[in-house]
Amino acid sequence: MTSPTPRVLAVANQKGGVGKTTAVVNLSASIALLGHRVLVIDLDPQGNASTGLGINIRELERSVYDVLLQEAPIEDVVQSSVVKGLFVVPANLDLAGAEIELVPMMGRETRLRKAVDRVAADYDYVFIDCPPSLGLLTVNALSAAQEVLVPVQCEYYALEGLAQLLRNIELVNSNLNPKLHVSTILCQMYDSRTRLSADVVSEVREHFGDKVLRSVIPRNVKIAESPSHGQPAVVLEPGGAGAKAYIAAAQEVVNGRA
Ligand SMILES: Nc1ncnc2c1ncn2[C@@H]1O[C@H](COP(=O)(O)OP(=O)(O)OP(=O)(O)O)[C@@H](O)[C@H]1O
Ligand SMILES: [Mg+2]
Repeated sequence: MTSPTPRVLAVANQKGGVGKTTAVVNLSASIALLGHRVLVIDLDPQGNASTGLGINIRELERSVYDVLLQEAPIEDVVQSSVVKGLFVVPANLDLAGAEIELVPMMGRETRLRKAVDRVAADYDYVFIDCPPSLGLLTVNALSAAQEVLVPVQCEYYALEGLAQLLRNIELVNSNLNPKLHVSTILCQMYDSRTRLSADVVSEVREHFGDKVLRSVIPRNVKIAESPSHGQPAVVLEPGGAGAKAYIAAAQEVVNGRA
């Protein structure tokens, strides 16, 4: 079922801790379990997407840093993960200096896009986990993607900072990547006991309409614990409430081509 051009989704929100990495890990794993070939590119020096998919980032010979800064062929850096059909370009702390090291480099905004083009034919979906900033790493992700998936936490201030993110997406769209658009909003860490969570979801739906996935991810302890096992929650405990919500969200992503 491999198509020549994969859907490339940058998972971005410059706000920290809203669930970007958790979304990348669980959506990519769910989509791989549906039978698609999926690549995760970890673009965060914290390397949480890599460890969450079972990769030991202390023992990397090469990482996404080498792809961006040393022109290492991306296919030599790809590793298999704990999930069949799911592959990872891992990151570690080497990437921490990249925001600055990229500044004087030729084509500094489009280095990741060139790398993704090399392996495009091998995958149906590519997910890029962005760091919590709008610097050059995120710009590289936005240049390489067609779609942006924005995780939003169901908390007060959820929409704060989104205007700035949308402005940056607009800038990348007009200057570097005319295909780029926000395709998907995922509401995360929903607490059914609070009125606030419900209010945030309705506000997000008012702003973004049908870009907002119907499936809302509950606050769930198994989701929070699974990274310590090096496995996505959808693999570790597929029957759990959080995992079920992710599997439903993944089906929406696959079916609703935005
Ligand atoms: N649905 C959930 N229920 C409970 N905990 C969650 C849920 N989703 C994410 N978390 C936890 O919230 C924390 C932040 O999530 P995550 O690391 O995915 O966010 P992030 O946006 O990638 O953060 P950063 O901006 O630092 O990269 C993590 O400890 C994660 O395990
Ligand atoms: Mg993260």
